[in-house]
Amino acid sequence: MKDFEFYNPVKIFFGKDQVPQIASQIPAGNKVMLIYGGGSIYKNGVYDKVKEALKEFNVTDFGGIEPNPKYETAMKAVEIVKEKKIDFLLAVGGGSVIDATKFIAAAACFENGDPWKILKDSEVVKSALPLGAVLTLPATGSEMNKNSVISRKSTSEKFSFASPYSFPRFSVLLPDAAGSLPPNQVANGVVDAFVHVIEQYLTYPVDAPIQDRFAEAILITLIEEGPKVYSNPSDYNSMANLMWSATMALNGLIQAGVPGDWSIHSIGHELTALHGIDHARTLAVTLPGLWKVLREEKKLKLLQYGQRVWNITTGTEDERVDAAINKTTEFFESLGIKTHLSDYGVKQDTIDKIVSRFKERNWLELGDRGLTTPEVTKKALEYQL
Ligand code: NZQ
Ligand code: ZN
Repeated sequence: MKDFEFYNPVKIFFGKDQVPQIASQIPAGNKVMLIYGGGSIYKNGVYDKVKEALKEFNVTDFGGIEPNPKYETAMKAVEIVKEKKIDFLLAVGGGSVIDATKFIAAAACFENGDPWKILKDSEVVKSALPLGAVLTLPATGSEMNKNSVISRKSTSEKFSFASPYSFPRFSVLLPDAAGSLPPNQVANGVVDAFVHVIEQYLTYPVDAPIQDRFAEAILITLIEEGPKVYSNPSDYNSMANLMWSATMALNGLIQAGVPGDWSIHSIGHELTALHGIDHARTLAVTLPGLWKVLREEKKLKLLQYGQRVWNITTGTEDERVDAAINKTTEFFESLGIKTHLSDYGVKQDTIDKIVSRFKERNWLELGDRGLTTPEVTKKALEYQL
């Protein structure tokens, strides 16, 4: 096992009647900005519940955060935060709203010019406003981590940052509110959480059996519960299991002491930046391609994954690796998530563009052992054309 430091201060409130807890978690007298997306929270009743919980506070609403939240929109919120001297930010919605809120919180305190530098140049965040979250969509884990991913419309770029100042102070997780999700968003959530686990698990063995088994438990739970929620998003128990799985998939726990990869995400972000494809769908395309190229380097973990997660126990090693890749692709496709670039109208010119962007940024050895070179990225995406 590798050396590690593990820190996660996010207080979680999970379940049906947890929204009123918000009031006790925000310091009395704080000016609050309530940040949300395109209006789903009006339809599922969460907006009214949150407003009721905040009735003692001075609240400014800021709606209109897009899926794949935009820097341009977040900066409008930053202006209002400064003008109204807002003390506390409350994100209500999915990962995009929470990510935007983390960026707004950091950008409002950034003193070194344009806050875009936090994303593009990895400038260190030295302080941020406190924030909380109310989660209505299981997928990203943003509710219990320090990451944020923001896109810039004007340049078609998408970058992430991570800071200990970006952990929510608390997150209220609402499986019942997620019951109003359309099946395609449920499928996105299952696949995003699945790939989060893969990015931290499917590398090479480091004698870390507890991390491996935590990871496999999450994968198996997603395989069991995902289809149930996909066919019936208002199945509360299954949604609760999906939501907690997605949170556990990216809150730092399974990453402790093991190598990570994250090159599936780096490539996927480009597909979203250039074509607006949903985040999870970009991962479903990239993952099988990357495994096909790196099957030798990742063989030991692919075999373990095949055996423990999919019960693949017969055949030669090569056949078992093929079976593990096929089972994964079939699982994504069973949730209506297509795994080829042609399904999204993406062609060779986009692959070439991604490869040249990686070279320009000097991203020459991404991920697990630096295996994802521009050449590997090219081959991986070409497998999925
Ligand atoms: O905007 P509203 O109206 O709220 O609608 C949203 C949005 O259209 C809707 N929605 C959310 N909850 C709903 C609902 N519709 C009905 N009922 C509900 N209960 O769902 C749509 C998608 O929402 P979004 O927040 O974009 O989805 P998700 O949670 O999948 O977030 C995706 C973003 O998170 C980033 C992705 O790159 C992408 O930008 N990620 C963030 C990570 C992190 N912070 O750790 C890690 C991930 O790898 C990922 O990169
Ligand atoms: Zn993701």
